[in-house]
Amino acid sequence: MPRFPNISEHAHGVSHRVYSSLAERARAKNERIHALHVGDTYRDPVAAARAERQLSSEHPGLHRYAPVQGEPGLIDAFIAYVEGRHGETLNRERIQVMLGATAGLSVVCQVLLEPGDEVLLPSPFWPLSRGIIATKGAVPVQIPFYTRLDEPGFDAEALLESAVTDRTVALYINTPNNPSGRVLSDATIDAMLRVAKRHDLWLLCDEAYEEIYFDMEPPAAVWMRSDIRDRAIAFHTLSKTYGLAGARVGFTHGPEGIMTAIRGMQTFHTYCAPRPMQFGAVEALRQGGAWVRESRSLYRDAGYQAADALGAVRPQGGTFLFIDVSAHLDPSAEDCGAFLDRCADDGVLLTPGRSCGADYASWVRLCFTSVPPDQLDAALGKLGPLFRTPSC
Ligand SMILES: Cc1ncc(COP(=O)(O)O)c(C=O)c1O
Repeated sequence: MPRFPNISEHAHGVSHRVYSSLAERARAKNERIHALHVGDTYRDPVAAARAERQLSSEHPGLHRYAPVQGEPGLIDAFIAYVEGRHGETLNRERIQVMLGATAGLSVVCQVLLEPGDEVLLPSPFWPLSRGIIATKGAVPVQIPFYTRLDEPGFDAEALLESAVTDRTVALYINTPNNPSGRVLSDATIDAMLRVAKRHDLWLLCDEAYEEIYFDMEPPAAVWMRSDIRDRAIAFHTLSKTYGLAGARVGFTHGPEGIMTAIRGMQTFHTYCAPRPMQFGAVEALRQGGAWVRESRSLYRDAGYQAADALGAVRPQGGTFLFIDVSAHLDPSAEDCGAFLDRCADDGVLLTPGRSCGADYASWVRLCFTSVPPDQLDAALGKLGPLFRTPSC
C-alpha cells in the first residue's frame, strides 16, 4: 500500500521537540537567558583535544574516512583508559568507536530489537533513550525507579520482574543516572541483574557519567560483572567526561559475537565517527586526567550549591537535579507547564520532567554544569523564590 503522504507508524512516537520551546518565551522577556535545560558543560576541553588543534600536517588525510571500527590509536587510548579505570584489558575486537553514546545505543538497538519488542526502561531516564528505542518500532517500558530507591520496602527485583513480558528483550541501566543524580548501589544492581539473567535479557549499560560521581569511591561498572559479561553492552562517551559533546566520539563494547553485527550495522548508519575529532579524543584520553578530576570537583560544588539553593537532595553524580515541584503547582494542574513558564519568564530554562518519563509530569530537570558558576549563581537567585512559593 502506498505510504505517501504519510510517514511510518513508529516515527509518530518520536518528537524532535524533546526540549520544549520555552526559549522563545524566555527571550521575549529577558536579555539574558540561563539555559539549564540541556545537559552540557561550560568547560572547554583540554587544549590538545580541541577541534582547532587537529592538524593535517600531523595527521595526513585528516578529513578522509576513518576505519569503520575507529582510528587504531584511539582504540589503544580507550583500552588504556579502561585499564587505568577498571583494571581490565579489553580485547580490541570488542570495541567499536561510535558517534557518541546516542549513535551507539541507536546502532545497538537496531541490531537487537524487532518492532514490538519491549525494553525495560527504569525511569526517570535520559530523554533520548526512550526515543531511540521507539525509532526501532520497539516499546520502551517505563518503570518509575531511580526516584523510589529510598522508599521503605523498595524492591528493585520485584518491580522489574513485574514489567517483564514475553516480548521483553533488554534492560537499560544508567548509573550515575541522568536525571536523578543517583548512583545505584551494588545491591540494587545485583537485583536488576538477577532479572536480566532470569529472563535472558540483553543489558544496555549506559556509562555516560562514569567519571562524574561525588564524595565516593569510583563506582564499579555494571558491565564488568563476570556473570553478565555475555549479555552486557556498554556505552561510553567523551561528551561528559571530557567536555567533548560536539566532537561526537564514544565507544561501544560487548561480547565478541555481537560486536561483528554491531560493526556491520554501524557501517550502514554513520560509517565512521568524525576522523579529526577521533584524534582530539586520543589527546583527551591521554592528557585529560587532571581535567576530569577538576571537573568532578567543580561539578560537585555546582550540584551541591544548586540542590541547597532549591531545597533539593544533593546529587551523588551526573550533572542534573531532578525535582518534584508538585507543591508549587496549582492542584488542578496537569503538569509543570505553568511552573516552567514562570521560570522562563525569569530567564531560566528547565526541562519538563515528562521528557524523562511519563510518571514525572510534576517534576523538572535542571543541569547544573551547562553554565559557568557566576551564571549558575544568577539563575539560582531567580529560581530560589519560585521554589519557595507554595503554588503558582
Ligand atoms: C545517560 C546519557 N547517555 C547518553 C548520552 C548521550 O551521549 P553522547 O553525547 O555521547 O551521544 C547522554 C547525554 O546527555 C546521557 O545523559
